[in-house]
Amino acid sequence: MLVLKFTNPKIGNPFSSAASLSEEKRDSIGVKRLSDARDEYTQIKPYAGMPKEVLVLYSSKARYRVPREILFWLTVCCTLALVAVTIAVIALSPKCLSWWQASPVYQIYPRSFKDSDGDGVGDLKGIREKLDHFEYLNIKSIWISPFYRSPMKDFGYDVEDFRDIDPLFGTMKDFEDLLAAMHSKGLKLIMDFIPNHTSDLHRWFNLSRTRDPHYEDYYVWTDCKPDGPKPNNWVSIFGNSSWTYDEVRGQCYLHQFLKEQPDLNFRNPDVIKEMIDIIHFWLEKGVDGFRMDAVKHMLEAPHMRDEPQVDPNKPPVSLVTTEWDLHSDYTTSQVGLHDILREFRAQMDIYSQEPGRYRFMVTESYDYEEVYKTMMYYGSRLEKEGDFPFNFYLLDLPHNTSGVWAKHLVHLWMGNMPKGKWPNWVVGNHDRTRISSSAGRLYVRAINMLLLTLPGTATTYYGEEIGMENINVTASQIQDPAGKYNTSASRDPQRSPLQWNADTNAGFNEKTNLTWLPLHPDYETVNVEAQMKDDGSVLAQYRFLNTLRQSELPLNRGWFCYVHADANVFSYIRELDGLKRAFLIVVNFGKESAVTDLSSVRELPDELKVLMSTTIANDGKVFPKSRIQTEVGEGLVIQYSTNTRFNPNHPEECYISEKACYLETIDILYKC
Ligand code: GLC
Ligand code: MG
Repeated sequence: MLVLKFTNPKIGNPFSSAASLSEEKRDSIGVKRLSDARDEYTQIKPYAGMPKEVLVLYSSKARYRVPREILFWLTVCCTLALVAVTIAVIALSPKCLSWWQASPVYQIYPRSFKDSDGDGVGDLKGIREKLDHFEYLNIKSIWISPFYRSPMKDFGYDVEDFRDIDPLFGTMKDFEDLLAAMHSKGLKLIMDFIPNHTSDLHRWFNLSRTRDPHYEDYYVWTDCKPDGPKPNNWVSIFGNSSWTYDEVRGQCYLHQFLKEQPDLNFRNPDVIKEMIDIIHFWLEKGVDGFRMDAVKHMLEAPHMRDEPQVDPNKPPVSLVTTEWDLHSDYTTSQVGLHDILREFRAQMDIYSQEPGRYRFMVTESYDYEEVYKTMMYYGSRLEKEGDFPFNFYLLDLPHNTSGVWAKHLVHLWMGNMPKGKWPNWVVGNHDRTRISSSAGRLYVRAINMLLLTLPGTATTYYGEEIGMENINVTASQIQDPAGKYNTSASRDPQRSPLQWNADTNAGFNEKTNLTWLPLHPDYETVNVEAQMKDDGSVLAQYRFLNTLRQSELPLNRGWFCYVHADANVFSYIRELDGLKRAFLIVVNFGKESAVTDLSSVRELPDELKVLMSTTIANDGKVFPKSRIQTEVGEGLVIQYSTNTRFNPNHPEECYISEKACYLETIDILYKC
């Protein structure tokens, strides 16, 4: 029986008068009274502080129970729906572009960027002074060529101490300040990492040549006589034998570059460990990635047999002296190389877990026509390696200026890149003739347009954004050791100081009259300051295209489709499924002006309006699609609107790294 124990002043005690009656009567009266009480309670409005028993009476009534149950089930359903929607959104969202995909990579050659202390050589403080340049250009990723302590035989690619800064460039504090300043501006710093060799002044080399038991095998040594024949026919990249006799140890050591750059022995696990420790050292400091130098040279065949000659009839000793004379079967791309690089990558991944702190890795390897070798640096499906290997094929653009050739070079990469990987494009660096000099000034703007409208990451070597050209360096001015061996191999011409303005020393050194290499005489007109004021300048066009690329989905992550290539013109489409806005790029790399007929491309509208031409006067021009005009070296970005995408009808002509579709109604991207 329900016993209600309470004396609420508003209700009183409904049982008190039944206390002296018989059990039976009491029961029947009790029941009756209880139902009376219930009726009575129903008259009472619920009030705060109601006891549990009353509450229970109310709560079981349909008018409270039903809404409660509805609310309960509604909450359950909504929660489940929310979870389902969250899972669906996560599953359907394409990956966001990472920083190394969204921005071009800008290469600073630190000797030549900006000299802050007036010694004629650029330095870290100088770089810090000029960070606004990157904000202006909308560039976020900066690769700085080596600034480790070095005797500068190969200008920093000969490292004496991997954990120290060369005084020429500044101090560790200068480096830390630079990194902090870059990070506070949202810029990423990519360091050069040089695993293949050290300087001959490195502590390890000294310990190795004196046969310290731990360091004895840190380098590649073999027996030879001081003036006897070399251990084999291997040659250095800078020419002549890659073996040098060391008097201290009485053996020969291997150097695939200068004799002052002995090759490390990566068959020794201690060497791998040392290099990993150095990677950790810089990642701990906060650097955002590494450009891995000369990776294909890291391992050599232990049997040390002669490499096959390209021309077997050449007298080996007198004429086989350059890398082009040999098939470098035993000194490059050896089995085991990728395992080492994947280990480096794995170490970098440990530091990539925090959001926005992805550490990037790019490898340098020139494999020429053996493109499949380059592609291996992308890693495999199961194991990551570089985010991309540098793509050097566009360096060959000048060899044959035509639309067909440009397409051929682009296709060398696109046609060989593993599915789902991210492309990249290089047209210059500190080792190669500036493209403005090899291709000619006429094509500079078109080449920048190509770089910034192709899919993937563009690399820009300092000065390319203003169309800087090579300088002439006389024999007595040569600084580059490679040039001292062979004048025509000198890399000085592409390393002249960046032309900031028309002042003394082009603003590179504002303190004294020193510059480590001569300036290009055109600096009074070709400089950053002058070009900032000119809407039609190479710089203004670079900036416009880079900004357009970063704000337009079809350009930064959409389809890339070949449309046309002939003796002059190379043309392609950038589009994204679901998005009406698309871009047609038409670039004239030939020797004649051209009229291109794209009337057979039915996905294009009949009239095409030029959003941007490298010839500023042609901005806004409208062409019928049957007659698109371009001058020599002119590039056009045409923006158009369409409901018909090109890629579904031409799958063989189109590439995309990660497919994504756009839903215009709610402005989102999804996997499709
Ligand atoms: C890389 C560098 C080059 C250097 C060589 C040896 O190829 O880009 O400048 O001379 O490695 O370190
Ligand atoms: Mg200096």
